[in-house]
Amino acid sequence: MKDRRENWSSNFGFILAATGSAIGLGNLWKFPFITWKNDGGAFVLIYLICIIAVGLPIMMAELLVGRKTQKSAVGALREAIGPAWGWVGTWGVMAGFVILSYYAVVAGWSLFYLFQTLNWSFFGFPTQANMGGLFAGLAANGLLQTTLSGTFMLLTVAVVFFGVHGGIERTARLCLPALFVIMLLLLFSALSMEGSGEALNFIFRPNFSELDTAAILEALGHAFFTLSLGMGTMIVYGSYVARERSLVNAAGSIVILDTVIALIATIIMFSVIFTVPGMPEQVDGSSVGMLFISLPQLFYEVVPFGVVLAPAFYLLVALAALTSTISLLEVVVSYFIDQRKMERSRATLLSGACIYIFTFLSGLSFGAFPWLSNFELFDGKAGFFATMDHFASNWALPLGGLLITLGVGWFMPSSDTEAELVGSGSPGWFSHKAWLFAVRFIAPAAVAAILIAVIFFGKDFS
Ligand code: TRP
Repeated sequence: MKDRRENWSSNFGFILAATGSAIGLGNLWKFPFITWKNDGGAFVLIYLICIIAVGLPIMMAELLVGRKTQKSAVGALREAIGPAWGWVGTWGVMAGFVILSYYAVVAGWSLFYLFQTLNWSFFGFPTQANMGGLFAGLAANGLLQTTLSGTFMLLTVAVVFFGVHGGIERTARLCLPALFVIMLLLLFSALSMEGSGEALNFIFRPNFSELDTAAILEALGHAFFTLSLGMGTMIVYGSYVARERSLVNAAGSIVILDTVIALIATIIMFSVIFTVPGMPEQVDGSSVGMLFISLPQLFYEVVPFGVVLAPAFYLLVALAALTSTISLLEVVVSYFIDQRKMERSRATLLSGACIYIFTFLSGLSFGAFPWLSNFELFDGKAGFFATMDHFASNWALPLGGLLITLGVGWFMPSSDTEAELVGSGSPGWFSHKAWLFAVRFIAPAAVAAILIAVIFFGKDFS
């Protein structure tokens, strides 16, 4: 029996949806912050190398497994590589569950700042603003936290409920163009600011004396997170791609768009920060600080057209987060549809509700509920939220990514991978041999290095 699988309505729609999954809080919240922490230049260069040498080949590997089998993570790995590999898919589904649960909390904050900046833009920015206090108030307010993340979860559920075509693809078609436009407006405004020269210098002028191995591993770990790799998201999205499309071109476009947006986001934030005297010294502590404490105020004080751009910016963050949360939920939902033969509607509501239980706990772990704020499973990672993030970034994704690349590289017949990647037409620059080398040797060695660093040297990439 062959039931008909829903497909993307066009190649463009697929690329938008997959790019939407990739572009998210990773680009806007994590990347600028880790670039700052690692002193820019050299770190950015290493990151670009990781994206090309490890991210791009694994992106192709995940897409081809999905497209070949037309199944979601568990079934796809089982069929393409072998029965035991179904467990890697199950691990991925669990990782999706965990990541979505805490990601929704930060996504909820973007809603808060969207409402807040709308309010300021219309009614004026307070002269004696205490932005640190505002954020601390939000963090410790359990009711607000759970309402915001719950709202975001409902939005995510509503999109996935309507399926691949009517929900996910349609949302991506609306959100991504809006996101690109807002990003460009912000970029123009940022480049006109005084600090932009210094910002560009900081980002693009490598200084290798600043770089240590921890930074290299952090760049690599982030390459996984930002491209949505290591847990089967791209397997699932690939499974909705029609046979005659070139996966190589698609993978290339997704990777380029994701990288460009991350760099633009960084240019925007650093231009603002370098424009204000004394600001670079203040922005240090946390990633939360840059996005939700330093920036809101600066929009009103230094950014040209900040009154319009501030709400636009937080809308952008919310839209980027939404196209990522739907991809995370889709991994879980497609598991219940394919493996447990559930209806999409039921699978979506059930998964959404179960994940929200964890979101609820994460949201309350910023001070609202001491037991959750002090919850410690990993040394030095206090709080339920930090625990989940640490587990996903340091364990779930690297381990999943390692197993997927080893499976596709060594245990899948290379005639199969060649048929998927080259059979449907591939661009001139692509070489199946080079790809196979990357998937067999470069990517596993790099990912193994992350795991070794975490296990033996106690490094932390969350
Ligand atoms: N890539 C997204 C971001 O940068 C987050 C994300 C979506 C993700 N799906 C994923 C991360 C799957 C890891 C795995 O924000």
